[in-house]
Amino acid sequence: MKGVILAGGTGSRLYPLTKVTNKHLLPVYDKPMIFYPIQTLIDAGIKEIMIVSGRGHAGHFLELLGSGADLGVKFTYEIQEEAGGIAQALYLAKDFVDNDNVTVILGDNIFQDKINDTVQRFNSGAQIFLKNVPDAHRFGVAEIEEENKKVIGIEEKPENPKSNYAVTGLYIYDKNVFNIIKTLKPSGRGELEITDVNNHYIRRGDMKYSILNGYWSDAGTFDSLLKAGNLVKNQK
Ligand code: DAU
Repeated sequence: MKGVILAGGTGSRLYPLTKVTNKHLLPVYDKPMIFYPIQTLIDAGIKEIMIVSGRGHAGHFLELLGSGADLGVKFTYEIQEEAGGIAQALYLAKDFVDNDNVTVILGDNIFQDKINDTVQRFNSGAQIFLKNVPDAHRFGVAEIEEENKKVIGIEEKPENPKSNYAVTGLYIYDKNVFNIIKTLKPSGRGELEITDVNNHYIRRGDMKYSILNGYWSDAGTFDSLLKAGNLVKNQK
């Protein structure tokens, strides 16, 4: 299992915090944001991790994280030239992932749950992690049949969500993910969407899901950044 952290994008919703630095280097309580997704992957036993960032502040990631030797892992770095979407950023990891499976985590997502059992058990298809939230319209939203443990479909930021289950920014894929991304067309917001990748696996009957029990937050807006910091602080 390889790991990929997606830390591209523009961080425009956090401007002016992101005027001279990258969103994923901002503090979440007592650590830079990117330390949290790194820890989630390390706790899952993943040792080879690629970090995809945008052009702006790529050198700062290198300075902050180095080779990974002090954490017992190996970091590889890749640049996404423009913010063309989460799926576009993931495609940059194709050669790095090679014939392995890949756990992908968004650089602004903070998880309390440990996912090592799910990672160890994964062998093919795709796996998403859902969280029951009060503001599902901000996220990808999954419609599920709980009795059959089946995902029916995912809608990206729907006005009228079909459930309260947000699709969190943590995904496990087999190597077919790269063939799927190749077939995608840009969405209305001009991005290659990870939701389109996931719906592809759902249509093939190849998608599993788990529901997270611990806290989860993104940290891409002022309010969610503050919330993420408080969640981390209160857990200590
Ligand atoms: O936080 C979970 C949500 O993340 C999911 O529920 C949605 O389905 C998914 O589309 C995504 O929604 P956002 O609109 O909040 O994603 P955002 O554009 O904020 O990007 C999240 C992270 O993805 C960002 O911290 C870095 C990475 N990213 C994003 C883009 C657009 C890249 O690496 N490259 C990109 O081009």
